Amino acid sequence: MSRLQVVSGKGGTGKTTVAAALALALATEGRRTLLVEVEGRQGIAQLFETEALPYEERKIAVAPGGGEVYALAIDPELALLDYLQMFYKLGSAGRALKKLGAIDFATTVAPGLRDVLLTGKACEAVRRKDKRGRFAYDYVIMDAPPTGRVTRFLNVNDEVAGLARIGPIHNQAQAVMRVLKSSETAVHMVTLLEEMPVQETADGIGELRAARLPTGRVIVNMVRPALLEEASLALVRDGAPARTALARSLSAAGLGGARRGGGAERLVSPLLGQAAEYAERHALECDQRAVLAGLGLPLHELPLLAEGMDLAGLFQLAALLREQGFA
Ligand SMILES: Nc1ncnc2c1ncn2[C@@H]1O[C@H](COP(=O)(O)OP(=O)(O)OP(=O)(O)O)[C@@H](O)[C@H]1O
Ligand SMILES: [Mg+2]
Repeated sequence: MSRLQVVSGKGGTGKTTVAAALALALATEGRRTLLVEVEGRQGIAQLFETEALPYEERKIAVAPGGGEVYALAIDPELALLDYLQMFYKLGSAGRALKKLGAIDFATTVAPGLRDVLLTGKACEAVRRKDKRGRFAYDYVIMDAPPTGRVTRFLNVNDEVAGLARIGPIHNQAQAVMRVLKSSETAVHMVTLLEEMPVQETADGIGELRAARLPTGRVIVNMVRPALLEEASLALVRDGAPARTALARSLSAAGLGGARRGGGAERLVSPLLGQAAEYAERHALECDQRAVLAGLGLPLHELPLLAEGMDLAGLFQLAALLREQGFA
């Protein structure tokens, strides 16, 4: 299992939710995980029902079995100060830089610099060791930018490595790329069983592969329950025979009585209408499942939680990921 787990996918498909569930799932048996947010939207804090995360690693949950989940919302400005501090020992000059707005300038103007700082911080957490030489975190899980931007986001150190040919920035970029392109990293995609997100997933995986970034797994989120088994679906497709069969079963069940034109007849059409709607959705979902299967990556499915997402729901999704052998 790769130590850096990157979670991407189309906007709104559940990247933040799945990343959080994965951080919980990987934190069992006393392990420690770090859930990293790189887009500054405090989605993780909301999900764990805590106050906004500062730029500081803090424990946000205890997993079943005693593992711990830490979280960090990376602030690109503060990451730049960190970085300058690390390499140039700037001290108070760093604070002066911040006052002068040089950091704003650097992170908004210098192409790619912002992303280098964000990925660099995550990789630093992956490699960090404690005094006894053990890894500080067993796993780092990144709630990454969406599919359309993730390859560029992760690959940006390559560009910087090309720009700065020597010196600490060059070395840092090289070190980060070594982690990101190795088996230490896996980039997962979250999708829904719908045409657009599935297409984006396929495109995104193609881009990752072209950039030689390590693809991980596909998580189909918000899967709705199966309502009819194959035999019933076949009946729905048959039309007229379904009508007779359904009317007969409804009468047999005591609905509508035996009288012609009674309740049973009136129930048939709306029920068949709903069944037809479901059959159509089911057929579309089958098509999307086939496209996903063609990607050649392990597939996982998480259900749509009807009551909406809360902390209990998050633990439920984490347990399902474990059951499916994800963690
Ligand atoms: N399995 C699920 N069942 C029910 N609701 C879900 C599930 N997964 C996610 N949600 C809900 O769907 C919404 C979008 O989820 P989330 O914020 O994780 O998506 P995202 O991909 O991170 O979105 P964004 O692109 O805005 O960052 C949220 O309201 C979340 O609570
Ligand atoms: Mg999100």
